[in-house]
Amino acid sequence: MTRRVYNFGPGPATLPLPVMERARDEFLDFQGLGASIIEISHRSKEFEALLDQTDALLRELMEIPQDYAILYAHGGGQMQFSMVPMNLMRYRPARKALYVETGEFSKRAIEEARRYGTVDVVASSRGTRFDRIPELDPARIDPAASYLHITTNNTICGTQWRDVPAAGDVPLVGDATSEILSRRIDVRRFGVLYAGAQKNLGPAGLAVVIVRRSLLGHELPETPKLLTYKVLADDHSLTNTTNTFSVYMSKLVLEWLKTQGGVPAIEVRNQRKAATLYAILDASSFYRGHAHTPDRSIMNVTFNLPTPELEARFLREAEAQGLYALKGHRALGGVRASLYNAMSEDGVAALADFMRTFEQRNG
Ligand SMILES: Cc1ncc(COP(=O)(O)O)c(C=O)c1O
Repeated sequence: MTRRVYNFGPGPATLPLPVMERARDEFLDFQGLGASIIEISHRSKEFEALLDQTDALLRELMEIPQDYAILYAHGGGQMQFSMVPMNLMRYRPARKALYVETGEFSKRAIEEARRYGTVDVVASSRGTRFDRIPELDPARIDPAASYLHITTNNTICGTQWRDVPAAGDVPLVGDATSEILSRRIDVRRFGVLYAGAQKNLGPAGLAVVIVRRSLLGHELPETPKLLTYKVLADDHSLTNTTNTFSVYMSKLVLEWLKTQGGVPAIEVRNQRKAATLYAILDASSFYRGHAHTPDRSIMNVTFNLPTPELEARFLREAEAQGLYALKGHRALGGVRASLYNAMSEDGVAALADFMRTFEQRNG
């Protein structure tokens, strides 16, 4: 029997076991071709059909309206930090973009956007170590701005926007890398919603970009062809060899999600998983949660123990019990449990038991 741990890593992250098994079983021979999915052309009819099915599943599961294009882009989540400004900064003549700074990844997105235009950071929780989603004063949303960017779930600090901000006619851009498909999101609220694949979709390197078609075609003239949304939309993301394996794995994950009851059902399960851990944090003075209660993420639960020594012992003992990759990001230290869609309730129960026992022995 292959050993499988409960993998709480923030990404690349655990994927559903039935998906991994299926990929293993058909790895050498995809659909009777006698060749692997990674050995066939991205322009073969088999792969093009797979791409169509992936689109259809994503559209169905996320209720993506027809006036939005689905793109499969190279370069993971962070390539979008460049592609968003390259494709949208010029949407309005002021060449100005608004960003909310809620953590490490939004900081990087801001830094990147500054290369292409004026960036106004309209709200930030930097002063409280990104422990919350900051208040956003509607007066700061300049209607002349080309877009407003938010990170819908902050992987490192464990915060999440409950409701997305109203941005009026300013297109809202969301980085949903660490929460796509984990809860219902109204795509219509966004001009662009993007996610690196390596948490709730599939292997790293791919990003799914959902973009309102009316926003296509506004790229800066120097935008490289492969980074141009309109080009990808026109070519069904097959401008060059796409990340065929990651698309294939994502499609299997989407099929799995559908068998689980889709996004509304997984959302209920995700809320229950997070609530199990937050209940322990709330009842304890030993564990200290990082995130401000109303803004806590259901995907990434972050907390500290009284001393770095106890944190190190916690992580060591957890790993010995098959509770893997719980180390917090270096920015916060401590512990981070990532509870993506593929993390089972059994895994969370095992972690909860471990946390209670550890507190009893060390608290
Ligand atoms: C919210 C968020 N955005 C962007 C990224 C970066 O993704 P990538 O490493 O694929 O560039 C991550 C990675 O964890 C993330 O959590």
